[in-house]
Amino acid sequence: MAKIVNIAQMREHFPALNQKVNNRDLIYFDNGATAQKPQSVIELINDMNSGTNGNIHRAVHELSARCTDLYESARLAVKEFINAESTDEIIFTSGTTASVNLVANSFTSRFISKGDAVLICEADHHSNIVPWQMACKRAGAELRVLPVDQNGEWILDKLDSLIDSKLKIVSVAHISNVLGIKNPVQEIIERAHRFGARVLLDGAQGVVHGKVDVKDLNCDFYAFSGHKLYGPTGTGVLYGKREVLEEMEPWMGGGDMVDSVTLAKTTFAPLPLKFEAGTPNFIGVAALGEAINFVNRVDIDFMTAHEERLTSSLNKELEEIEGLTLFGKSKQKLPIFSFNVEGVHHTDLAMLLDKMGVAVRSGMMCCEPLMTRFGVTGMIRASLLPYNTIEETELFTKSLRKAINMLR
Ligand code: ALA
Repeated sequence: MAKIVNIAQMREHFPALNQKVNNRDLIYFDNGATAQKPQSVIELINDMNSGTNGNIHRAVHELSARCTDLYESARLAVKEFINAESTDEIIFTSGTTASVNLVANSFTSRFISKGDAVLICEADHHSNIVPWQMACKRAGAELRVLPVDQNGEWILDKLDSLIDSKLKIVSVAHISNVLGIKNPVQEIIERAHRFGARVLLDGAQGVVHGKVDVKDLNCDFYAFSGHKLYGPTGTGVLYGKREVLEEMEPWMGGGDMVDSVTLAKTTFAPLPLKFEAGTPNFIGVAALGEAINFVNRVDIDFMTAHEERLTSSLNKELEEIEGLTLFGKSKQKLPIFSFNVEGVHHTDLAMLLDKMGVAVRSGMMCCEPLMTRFGVTGMIRASLLPYNTIEETELFTKSLRKAINMLR
């Protein structure tokens, strides 16, 4: 199929972008929360819900076979998309949160003991903080935290005191969901590995804004969600290196993840099924496979150049607004902008923008420690994807200025 090489071609795949909200043309700038879906994904979901529906891996009938095929094709698509070694290293979950929880449970019970340590970052999403707090409490391990500077960038000088032989795993975001900063993950991976610690990257935003190559990164785990990558909600991926996954016990038991069950004892299925207990969201996963097929059609040069244009345009527009504080100024920035405006509450601003047809997120963005770091109760966030346009960034700032004037 032909590559998507410009914005007009990109937008024509997304019916949701052509709607009116509150009687205005929608400007959808809440992509960090969830992306809109291309027509091919919508059609596959409709087709499966309308007929191609049979539970996977379980039956000999045709519908089960077709769904199994779609599910396993999606696994192959993910494997190739992130350049994993094998489909055995691709585990389907319900989202990034479930993927991190899987590691926080299974890795911890196998590899973390009393007195060991886990490293996270203060800029991380709650889904990468809370599971590790719970795991460390259970294991009697220490939870260490990498701080960020006034721009939200990792203070790498602190790593010397945070990484030692007690450290068993580092779990951090590839790209911050609030600040849009692409973190220097390669450096933390190399340093953690020198001490034998494993590294999990929360790729919820990372997988969306550029090529991810897990072999090149040499991370041990990579977690992401389907719904931020043009796929359906309730789908996610955990990539894990085979050598670590083999050593880990499943944390959820149920059907399809077993080899043999007696009332006395169970042996588990081989990878990846041992981590996929119960009927999975096979329609969702098939649609995630279709979303990845779609992303593969988007020309990477167009995507990168367009995202750079969007970032630089919005950056310039926002910097010209008086009283606006932009968080996360960095050279490694993707089009995710969080800010506050003096004298105006972020929620009021987001509500007024909504009346103008502009969808943004406001509040803590599930990152309360980061809000505390910056001394704010919340922020307003505009997060863009390559289907957004330069005209939208201009209209957005026009609406923003209008809303600020109305609220001041
Ligand atoms: N984690 C999502 C966000 O950043 C929901 O908005």
